[in-house]
Amino acid sequence: MPRLPQIERPIVQSPMAGGATTPELVAAVADAGALGFVAAGYLTAGQLRDQIAAVRERTRTPFGANLFVPWPRQDTSVENYAKHIAPDADRLGVELGTPRWDDDDWAAKLALLLADPLPVVSLTFGCPADAIAALQHVGSAVAVTVTTVEEARSAAGAGADALLLQGAEAGAHRGSWSPDAEPVPLAALLADVRATTDLPLVAAGGLADADAVRTVLRDGAAYAQVGTALLRAPESGAQQAHKDALARPAETAITRTFTGRRARGIVNAFLREHEDAAIDAYPQVHHLTRPLRAAAARAGDPDRMALWAGTGHSSALDAPAAVIVRSLTP
Ligand SMILES: Cc1cc2nc3c(=O)[nH]c(=O)nc-3n(C[C@H](O)[C@H](O)[C@H](O)COP(=O)(O)O)c2cc1C
Repeated sequence: MPRLPQIERPIVQSPMAGGATTPELVAAVADAGALGFVAAGYLTAGQLRDQIAAVRERTRTPFGANLFVPWPRQDTSVENYAKHIAPDADRLGVELGTPRWDDDDWAAKLALLLADPLPVVSLTFGCPADAIAALQHVGSAVAVTVTTVEEARSAAGAGADALLLQGAEAGAHRGSWSPDAEPVPLAALLADVRATTDLPLVAAGGLADADAVRTVLRDGAAYAQVGTALLRAPESGAQQAHKDALARPAETAITRTFTGRRARGIVNAFLREHEDAAIDAYPQVHHLTRPLRAAAARAGDPDRMALWAGTGHSSALDAPAAVIVRSLTP
């Protein structure tokens, strides 16, 4: 079975789709001795190929890529929700996007990673055993994101080489395989999964300093994965208004308002005003709100952007990624 690449530090960089993960960020964390991941979510296969090439130009250190597993097609109507959020789009001077289901170009991106393999691929939102076997066949280790002990058991049964445990504290989308999986705090998830498998475990969710990393390593994780802690780095492509919001003390909450899938972000006006109307319809709501979120980012309006953040966001440093990786290492 392929294994995760040997790395100097027990730190894994979260793949962060939507612009935060740049080739510069992946290369910087890799060169600092952590495991970097290209975020393939939302990219076309061609964009993924270009991003991988851009990382390879910057570093010779191994790195991985993360794919979104397609989610079941559902035809939930987003009409009422669109009416609810329309005044926000008006205020920003944009039209809402066209809601549609898609599979995130899964087959083409998988084909690319099979034709030009990376040492490690991680999967989020599901666990297709045939894709795991195909990736392993070309030499990639496969890590599967799990959010419950049941998902962990299934991923081990499907042949995963490592499990990425995403605790309730984690920033952005829940990687759950079903929309109703209840978020489990990381400490409980780690203890329960540790008791059921010997696979290497990567612990994620709210880890923002060396003490937090030390604790998960002591409790049985082989690695700590961090996303939010890297968002303020100059190499991160997060919007400036997002970076600034992370630095301020603020509550976070899990919400479906921005994309129709549960995700943790800083509580802002959009989240507060639409939480009661939010619906379970991903990726339709993601496409619906996309122009609105982009316009808010252009306008520097943190009240209408998705300010994805884990619970440890106020410890995120405004420092080069390499410095952050070193500061997280126990
Ligand atoms: C801005 C942002 C984008 C994310 N995008 C992805 C993604 O594309 N794929 C994925 O598997 N996880 C994604 N995650 C979740 C991370 O994998 C991980 O669970 C999370 O970063 C851990 O919590 P932390 O942010 O508190 O460190 C994202 C997290 C953030 C903050």
